[in-house]
Amino acid sequence: MNDLGEHSSVEELLSDASERACRYLEGLSGQRVFPGRDELLRLSRFGEALPENGVTPSKVLALLDECGSPATVASAGGRYFGFVTGGSLPIALAAQWLAAAWDQNACLRVMSPVSARIEDITNSWLRDLFGLSDGWAVGFVTGATMANFSALAAARHALLARLGWDVEAQGLFGAPSLRVVVGEDVHVSMLKALALAGFGRSRVEKVPIDAQGRMRADELPPLDARTIVCAQVGNVNTGACDPIDAICERSQEAGAWVHVDGAFGLWARASSRRAHLVRGIEHAQSLAMDCHKWLNVPYDCGVVFVRDEPALRAAMSLQAAYLPSESARQPGHYVPDASRRARAIEVWAALLSLGKRGLDEMIERSCRLAARFADGLLGGGAQILNEVVLNQVLVSFGTDDRTKRVINAVQEDGTCWCGGTEWRGSAAMRISVSCWATTEDDIDASIAAILHIASSVA
Ligand SMILES: Cc1ncc(COP(=O)(O)O)c(C=O)c1O
Repeated sequence: MNDLGEHSSVEELLSDASERACRYLEGLSGQRVFPGRDELLRLSRFGEALPENGVTPSKVLALLDECGSPATVASAGGRYFGFVTGGSLPIALAAQWLAAAWDQNACLRVMSPVSARIEDITNSWLRDLFGLSDGWAVGFVTGATMANFSALAAARHALLARLGWDVEAQGLFGAPSLRVVVGEDVHVSMLKALALAGFGRSRVEKVPIDAQGRMRADELPPLDARTIVCAQVGNVNTGACDPIDAICERSQEAGAWVHVDGAFGLWARASSRRAHLVRGIEHAQSLAMDCHKWLNVPYDCGVVFVRDEPALRAAMSLQAAYLPSESARQPGHYVPDASRRARAIEVWAALLSLGKRGLDEMIERSCRLAARFADGLLGGGAQILNEVVLNQVLVSFGTDDRTKRVINAVQEDGTCWCGGTEWRGSAAMRISVSCWATTEDDIDASIAAILHIASSVA
């Protein structure tokens, strides 16, 4: 083992890391949300060339903290509203730390009975939360992009198997063709997943959407058993949810496969006041969602759900003489990776500590705070461009030019961080309230900062 430097034991090194992490988290509320120029310039201290002789672990840790911590984006704090970014619940972070010390390989039961057991339990809790029956397969992946990909791999297997084609053995060259239907506002990660799975980004049939970006079920093309319909709950701009009930009804009659990308929107199901927005998800064939977004566990953690368990297993499992052939569920047979970290552990910890009621309250609170954000900005003269149904708010400050300049100035100011987007051809500020740590004070301070900046941008 290499020299620990100033630390005389592993315990001292880990305690130092823990103290530095706690100091970082405690200081977050007073930190700029996006690092300033000086902090970014200091990143050059990380160096360029790999040194010939190693540096002691204590010095490595100190460098990481002293140069790295001030240059972080404060997305673990309460005033980061960019993209759809959750923070980390303290218990999820603590559980991940302990699990990191365990360093378990979560691929096979024999590699980690504890992670396999926790994954089994977490799977059943998630199925229960989302109203899915016991037969649904569940896999833990890096995020919603890989969850979308994994679901498409299962769909590809099932639809082609019905046509007598073994896609895992034969590949896609010469296979019967399948159709893919998406809404006009499909998330870009779904298109990436389609490209990865061999369907192509551009071979899709696009369904018109309504003013909030929802797929119009009455505009679906004729469907058949060769079709995968990719719907979504939680439009990345507006938060709007496709009418899954109606889409599933049309698709079921035709034998089509319905996949729902619910990266963050699926969590509406856990809120007693928002569950109606995602009505019908249990009738779909597959679902994708993220835990690192609205469940507020650390990156990276997404989940794929597939009703047809053998289809997902056929798409993902691997066999070799040295691998166990026992019939018990092998976690790695439901995901693209083999070796992987035990990411179900922080999901289990977060869910256990919240309980159903705490989860409901966390989701509901983000939605309430998003509505408060929208009301405050509206009261200060901004325009709100979407119906604020979940945690997303789209804002205009008049012309495109002014809106973009306000966004830039808000990002420069550092009180909070909001991204930009284009909505129906116009520039918009995009606000996503997804972090457990956000308080009413954070929202009010952010509204005040944004309106002050807007008043100074002509
Ligand atoms: C609707 C939707 N799908 C998929 C994704 C991709 O998720 P990830 O970055 O976890 O792969 C996002 C990310 O914002 C999203 O909003």
